[in-house]
Amino acid sequence: MKGKDLLSVADLGGEDIRLLISDAIDMKAQGWLSILSGKTLAIMFEKPSLRTRVSFELAMRQLGGQTVYLSPAEVGLGERESVPDVARVLSRYVDAITARTFSHQTLESLASYASVPVINALSDLEHPCQALADLLTIHEKKNGLEGLTLAFVGDGNNVAHSLMLAASLVGMNFRIASPADYRVQDRILNLAQGYALASGVEIVCTEEPQVAVSGADVVYTDVWTSMGQEAEVDERRRVFSRYQVNNELLSLAGEDAILMHPLPAHRGEEVSEGILDSPQSVVFDQAENRLHIQKALLAMMLGGLEIPLPGY
Ligand code: CP
Ligand code: NVA
Repeated sequence: MKGKDLLSVADLGGEDIRLLISDAIDMKAQGWLSILSGKTLAIMFEKPSLRTRVSFELAMRQLGGQTVYLSPAEVGLGERESVPDVARVLSRYVDAITARTFSHQTLESLASYASVPVINALSDLEHPCQALADLLTIHEKKNGLEGLTLAFVGDGNNVAHSLMLAASLVGMNFRIASPADYRVQDRILNLAQGYALASGVEIVCTEEPQVAVSGADVVYTDVWTSMGQEAEVDERRRVFSRYQVNNELLSLAGEDAILMHPLPAHRGEEVSEGILDSPQSVVFDQAENRLHIQKALLAMMLGGLEIPLPGY
């Protein structure tokens, strides 16, 4: 990964993901290190964020590095200044850029003009750092990943795309229940199906939440209306109303199933009131694990490791 971009989970292999998880577990136990001393990360966001911004800022600080945050209003990507020029200017100042953009093409353009690595901090197509933190969380809760079944209920969105790719790369079965017009994109599905075939697991796409959740080890959902889709909120509330994860649906999952959500959540919409606060919910572990997996990722991408960690 050193020197490369992370725009999609598909930029990683199954081995890379396993290594990141093992390093993140070590880093979680070790706390603060100085392996990125002298390194700087630009955090450039076109959309709001709590978890991603805080976890990237703290990940750099806890590894001895620095960050520069550029807010949506300051960036003016493609408006105040062209994306290629922003990429080339930032590359003269910092060692890596993490960007949250509306369009995935903006990220691709940033990456093609930047001479430093670019990390996807969420685009309309993918949210790879979230999927990595999610696999770390599942690994901790289930003592491994291979052979487990993850059921995603809801929109075939950025979070679903990255999870589907990540699950199939590490040998987890992936099921997704979405309304007909809100399925995952065919191009990402085809890519994931190739990984699933190689890993010997299955991907199931259905319109029925009950089919997806039946016997699953992990039940996962996300908002019905993602950032940038606010104009569609009424239509989406109508179309997704039977895709709510509630006690009745969750009771169809495996006995020790865990419930996951990337947050922020809309309680009363994609999840019933209270269910994210139940013992099955691991949503705050997921949020915490953004920090640990991103520390492992930054160490891997910026190549600053001087203290050999177990697993390296
Ligand atoms: N899950 C996640 O990416 O949260 P933020 O939008 O708050 O960064
Ligand atoms: N799908 C959501 C995820 C937020 C972390 C969005 O893009 O808004």
